[in-house]
Amino acid sequence: MAYPFQITSMEQYEKAYRESIDNPDQYWSSVAEHFHWRKKWDRVLDWNFIEPKIEWFGGGKLNITENCIDRHLETMGDKPAIIWEPNHPDERTRIVTYNRLHKRVCQFAQVLKNNGVKKGDRVCIYMGMVPELAYAVLGCARIGAIHSVIFGGFSAQSIADRLEDAKAEYIVTCDGAYRGGKDIPLKSVIDDALMGNKVVKRVIVYTRTRTPVSMIKGRDVWWEDEMEHAEAQVERENVVSMPATEMDAEDPLFILYTSGSTGKPKGVVHSCAGYMIWATYTFVNVFQYKPGEIHFCTADVGWITGHSYIIYGPLCAGATSLMFEGIPTYPDAGRFWDIVDKHKVNFLYTAPTAIRSLMGFGLDPLKGKDLSSLKKLGTVGEPINEEAWHWYDENVGNKKCPIVDTWWQTETGGVLISNLAGVTPSRPGWATLPLPGVLPKLVDEQGKEVVEKDENGLLKGNLCIAAPWPGIIRTTYGDHERCRVNYFATYENLYFTGDGALKDENGFYRITGRVDDVLNVSGHRIGTAEVENAINMHAGVVESAVVGYAHEIKGQGIYAYVIFNGHKKDDDMTRKDILATVSRIIGPIAKPDKIQFVPGLPKTRSGKIMRRILRKIAEGETSNLGDVSTLLDPGVVEEIRAGKV
Ligand code: WTA
Repeated sequence: MAYPFQITSMEQYEKAYRESIDNPDQYWSSVAEHFHWRKKWDRVLDWNFIEPKIEWFGGGKLNITENCIDRHLETMGDKPAIIWEPNHPDERTRIVTYNRLHKRVCQFAQVLKNNGVKKGDRVCIYMGMVPELAYAVLGCARIGAIHSVIFGGFSAQSIADRLEDAKAEYIVTCDGAYRGGKDIPLKSVIDDALMGNKVVKRVIVYTRTRTPVSMIKGRDVWWEDEMEHAEAQVERENVVSMPATEMDAEDPLFILYTSGSTGKPKGVVHSCAGYMIWATYTFVNVFQYKPGEIHFCTADVGWITGHSYIIYGPLCAGATSLMFEGIPTYPDAGRFWDIVDKHKVNFLYTAPTAIRSLMGFGLDPLKGKDLSSLKKLGTVGEPINEEAWHWYDENVGNKKCPIVDTWWQTETGGVLISNLAGVTPSRPGWATLPLPGVLPKLVDEQGKEVVEKDENGLLKGNLCIAAPWPGIIRTTYGDHERCRVNYFATYENLYFTGDGALKDENGFYRITGRVDDVLNVSGHRIGTAEVENAINMHAGVVESAVVGYAHEIKGQGIYAYVIFNGHKKDDDMTRKDILATVSRIIGPIAKPDKIQFVPGLPKTRSGKIMRRILRKIAEGETSNLGDVSTLLDPGVVEEIRAGKV
């Protein structure tokens, strides 16, 4: 498959960008034509950011799995769609061709149907990184069920909250998952999440780790039994494959929960057509994919990066996507390099956190590894510091691979600001230029566009986007008002990203980090309010305040100030108890790195916590805490500073 919409020079980029802004209807029609539609759209775009209402390719009908799979079968049926690399190198690699993927996805779609799943039903997927996870996701899409994948690091309580919010009646899970040296008992976590749940009708369990699990009669079924049954059915009824359900362009494709500045995660909803086009368009352009290349995105499918750049983007483009079950440091810190060497990977896409953590092991793990197949590198999820950028460039890319620094969010569906590998210029630490269709604006607190440059000649402001691109969030599940308030109400007629950014004289953007109360820990978004809620659940905790601080490897660490008034064994034990509570309520990924017990919190007379001060103390700044005279009790600041951990 060639990509007529692939941009291959700076001039083409400039032309495409101009066209996409001056005449979006025409530009995006010319891209959308290269997808498979059951019925062509009536109008390209209909939108306002007030409600908000965003409709791309209205009246069009399609199914994304026909674009991901069926249309490739004739010419590429025997090509690998997914190369699966297991957690432990001693286990066998699995290669899933497009033909095989088609067969398995249809079979699993049949399984879903046999178990009562219908178009529009929500299916929660809580699995490890096995090919069956891709079959589950695509099986849902095949019949128009809305999948909601939950990352394996979330707790039973988090799952229960998401199940309730999505009103999900079906779950697909594994007995367990391998991640490094750990076996994570996924089914057992699901069982805890389902205590008292009366809504879930069916749990489908795939066997991966052979961990003993409880199987509740009438509710739980084995994946293997169901697949066998579906296969026999297909043979008996002599049907070739499970037909794809025809979907409206704007029908929801999936929900993915993400943290914001409120205590409760939001169910970000993406649409069938717009998301498909954005994931594929950005995949082909940012990574400059060439047919036959091996694409390795190290994210987990539990996050948006895995959705867009392990599954939907690559498969729609007929690419070969490498899916890795494990972690970069198991069995040793050379695991990524072994995989690149073994599978002759051409593009590696990972998080700055992973790079920083691997840097810490020095160059030994790279010795003897042939990385010459690599042509391009990428990073995602957090700002990359220059030291890590250069290490990646020199030791992994051998100074011959362009690096794309891709800025985007769960809500954006795919990359919005990035250089295009080898086509537009790169600059360490800078995401650089917006993709066609993306209109960034930097505004001040009042929403006025920033026009005055700072002392370094840069514009600095809160990053907003002024018009919709095809992959933009459509709603937050079950609560459209929440979507409006969160993203479209801060500034009039703008989508607000929650990030701050700088812009230089070339029009390059540098993302400086969140300007709201959201942390980015190892590239994972965590709301401070969520962590505070979890800490406050612990008996004896009166109140808490959570802030981020610079962390050498994780990017940001979590620092919690806790007022504790209960039975205290000793500080250390109580800290561990609080961590156990946070793990129980959210999951291990949200555990604070530091907990300081404090007598009080710095509050204004109106009761607002002055986080600015807490942030400074957490960063180790001892002088210059700014004006504390508006505080109710300025003395508390001194006590907090003295007790810093
Ligand atoms: C941050 C991940 C700097 C940013 C795809 C954003 C980045 C949040 C970059 C979204 C980057 C992502 N440079 N910061 N290249 N990419 N971010 O929803 O703060 O998990 O708002 O999506 O990660 O995180 P999310």
